[in-house]
Amino acid sequence: MQTRNGVKGIVLAGGTGSRLWPVTTAVSKQLMPIFDKPMIYYPLSTLVMAGVREILIITTPRDRQQFERLLGDGSRFGLRLDYASQPTPAGIAEALLLGETFIDDSPVALILGDNIFHGVGLGRQLSRHRGRDGAHLFAYPVGNPEAYGVVEFDATGRVISIEEKPAAPRSRYAVPGLYFYDHKVVDIVRDLKPSDRGELEITAVNAAYLAAGELTVTVLDRGTAWLDTGTFTSMVQASEYVRVMEERQGLKIGCLEEAAWRAGLIDDQQLAALADPLVPSGYGIYLRNLLEWTPAHRGDVRVLTGQRADIDH
Ligand code: G1P
Repeated sequence: MQTRNGVKGIVLAGGTGSRLWPVTTAVSKQLMPIFDKPMIYYPLSTLVMAGVREILIITTPRDRQQFERLLGDGSRFGLRLDYASQPTPAGIAEALLLGETFIDDSPVALILGDNIFHGVGLGRQLSRHRGRDGAHLFAYPVGNPEAYGVVEFDATGRVISIEEKPAAPRSRYAVPGLYFYDHKVVDIVRDLKPSDRGELEITAVNAAYLAAGELTVTVLDRGTAWLDTGTFTSMVQASEYVRVMEERQGLKIGCLEEAAWRAGLIDDQQLAALADPLVPSGYGIYLRNLLEWTPAHRGDVRVLTGQRADIDH
């Protein structure tokens, strides 16, 4: 199955999860719940909203079977899912080498399995970058930029530097774990040398695109939430964010089944088939209710404003 412009997606869900031991001693971090669904549902939904249909999930060899048990070959969601193993965590950029055959000659969207995005219009915003030449990243103002890749802009908004976890950050703009690359990215990673900590750094890939004048960065607007889930505290905060928003709005965030249905990848009957086995947890009832709502009730903004539907989840 080829997408319209052939963009492939990769979710990197490897790593030891050492900052969450003993919680992740036996179970992958990206299978941990963020409120009412496994963590990996969120980045998968983000890729679906961005229009990606063929996705490679990279896990540790130990955890791969469990991801396969959860998601299968993706056909239930109208997706094609493949799996690959990362034996040791040798850096985010290694995902692009592990995915080399899968990527083939296509552009690729790489997302980290512990990054959660939520915001109105996000899907539309992301799909604009799908399949463009060069590299495209996002920037998000945070209070602790030293914990992330940091991008610096000049007065005209041009990117002038990008650094990984700098001790003295040159800006407040962190780089979230969602990266759009053209097909050249695999060659760029192949030429990379491991960093001092022995990893193939994604920031080095981005710096190579910057040096070639082929890096663009969009600042996510403040109405967008970007959360990561690397520590006990940030995991609880993300769960709490999702719980508060879902209970207030009656709409779920990161609901893969709903994202696939709204994207037209599955029809009403297929959504009902996904819903039924999940009824005991209440998650299935939510999916069933989606089918019973009127278009306006579903959040189809077109009906309410005459505009293009623009509710993201
Ligand atoms: C990684 C990247 C960093 C990026 C961050 C986003 O850091 O190295 O550039 O800003 O993900 O979540 P890590 O979470 O592996 O420390």
